[in-house]
Amino acid sequence: MESEAKLKVNILPDEKEALCNKGTTILKACASAGIMLNAPCNGEGTCGKCVVQIIEGVSAPDSCEHQLLSGTMLKIGYRFACRSRVTDNMRLIIPAESRIFKIKSVKASGIRELHLRPNITKIFLKVQQPKERHGIADLDIVEGSIKRRFGKVETSLGLIRRLPDLLKESSHRITAVIIGRSLTDLEIGDTTKDVYGISFDIGTTTIAGSLVNLNNGKELSSASDLNFQSGFGKDLKTRITSILKNPEDGLKELQDALIARINGIITELVAKKRIGRESIYEMAAAGNSVMQHIFLGINPLSLVSATHHPVIKRGIDADASMLGININKMAKVYVMPAISGFVGGDAIALILSTAMNIDNNIKLAVSMGANGIIILGSKDRILVYSTSASSAFDGVHISHGMPASEGAISDVIFSHKHKKIKDIELKVINNTEPEGITGGALVALISELRRLGIIEKNGKIKSKEELKNSLDNAILNRLSSDKDGNTFTIYSEKRKKVSLTQKDVKEFQLAKAAIRAAIEIMKKILKITDDEISEVYLSGAYGNVFIPEKTVEAGIFPEDYSDKIEYIGDTSYIGAKMALLSKDVRAEAEIISNSVEYLDLASREDFQDEFSNWLNFI
Ligand code: FES
Repeated sequence: MESEAKLKVNILPDEKEALCNKGTTILKACASAGIMLNAPCNGEGTCGKCVVQIIEGVSAPDSCEHQLLSGTMLKIGYRFACRSRVTDNMRLIIPAESRIFKIKSVKASGIRELHLRPNITKIFLKVQQPKERHGIADLDIVEGSIKRRFGKVETSLGLIRRLPDLLKESSHRITAVIIGRSLTDLEIGDTTKDVYGISFDIGTTTIAGSLVNLNNGKELSSASDLNFQSGFGKDLKTRITSILKNPEDGLKELQDALIARINGIITELVAKKRIGRESIYEMAAAGNSVMQHIFLGINPLSLVSATHHPVIKRGIDADASMLGININKMAKVYVMPAISGFVGGDAIALILSTAMNIDNNIKLAVSMGANGIIILGSKDRILVYSTSASSAFDGVHISHGMPASEGAISDVIFSHKHKKIKDIELKVINNTEPEGITGGALVALISELRRLGIIEKNGKIKSKEELKNSLDNAILNRLSSDKDGNTFTIYSEKRKKVSLTQKDVKEFQLAKAAIRAAIEIMKKILKITDDEISEVYLSGAYGNVFIPEKTVEAGIFPEDYSDKIEYIGDTSYIGAKMALLSKDVRAEAEIISNSVEYLDLASREDFQDEFSNWLNFI
């Protein structure tokens, strides 16, 4: 069958070109060219955030575009990128307000101390010349030298075939590259100082990578970017739906978008340190179950079937070349094991990062990512629960929620004058005009609005009228009302507005109640009290910072936890790095995968009671 000719989409002002099949949405075309658009309604055509101007190849608008775009805009080619499709070769302009910019890198903290035991070893060998060894085979000499210093290795036939030439070319001075127990390559001369690895957090909204010197364990550079799969759906559910809708290419498209981003980050990582990609011999990655399946090119549909089972649960070593990861051609990619269909390598990374699996003390760890993970226990017994309700903390399902990228409000500070609240000040990533709000800033804002009485115990945002005698005008003027309830305006300038709606507060309440109810039930199962929990760890997606005391004020955690909560950054990032640096950690990860108990809390009656109890604020 003849394959369909690809159509060209010219994207301005980036001057990039996407080659796509007829019928591809412009959103996907842009994603395939590495350009991320804002698409909070997942292509429903209701948010109007993904506007582009098509200057060549425009097609007729659909009913959503007719409804939300003015006649003049339609006439000059404005369309929604999620609704408009490629029907011919095209040229289009993406306005700044329709974009999502690059993530700002932040350093994640680590807690555990590790012994450096990477899966790759390099040994420099001075191989005896044939005349000195009286008929002994080349391979026996090489493997014998390695055995004395490292242990027994396996050598592939491909490498054995190249052995005579390599020995000759190197004048018998070569470096053995051993990955696991395989002699994978022989490099000419002494290259032992060039041995690097990369680790990746493959998050639903962000991808973060780090380049590590495997000779000393030092991180040399880090970089992150948005997960361009967002063009296919903002959360995991919609991404799986995109595979269902397009059974032939859906998975491949998602995997390609992910691998392209990872390769883009690798380019940044090596450019910062002027290191050749061929000196990177290993990659380790952690993410939720869906993302890990997609990364490996494994269909994740079984995860949403009635049995919710994963195709693969154990950790896996795959060939980097097979996955299309652009590093040394012989390199391996280690992907973290999972716990269950709902709980992936990100949960194992969280346990490893907090050392919960090797400590006698009982610890609580909560990941406030798109997929919330709550883990409680010690080395004797660990319970885990995962909830999608917490996606509010990752900016998903919040009107102006966004990842911690340029233009995201990362904190909201209430300024005082003579002990009275004067107004709010915003911290914005890269000091640009605010585009939206991160989960961490949302927690800070809601806790403060509750403290000021602007949000009632049941979550209702009070009206301007109700508050007129208790607040200054600057704050009062931020309140407005419409048919959906009251709204607090966080930022408003000309065409740009960032606000907190009544629906957002409701989403927040659902997320906080799911986490709090899980904590209460888990304590009950382990028969422990709050006092017996020695430490509470809070982690978030890359760059999304949570202030521990605000999480207590907002009612996510009990007040007793105030002194023991620590924010530890992106633990998938930390856990993947730990697995890169130490084979012992990989062995621990397998034990965790087989011993941690996954709880299906949502089906328990007492969970529903607890959930209702914690919906209100304190
Ligand atoms: S209109 Fe919402 S993503 Fe396009």
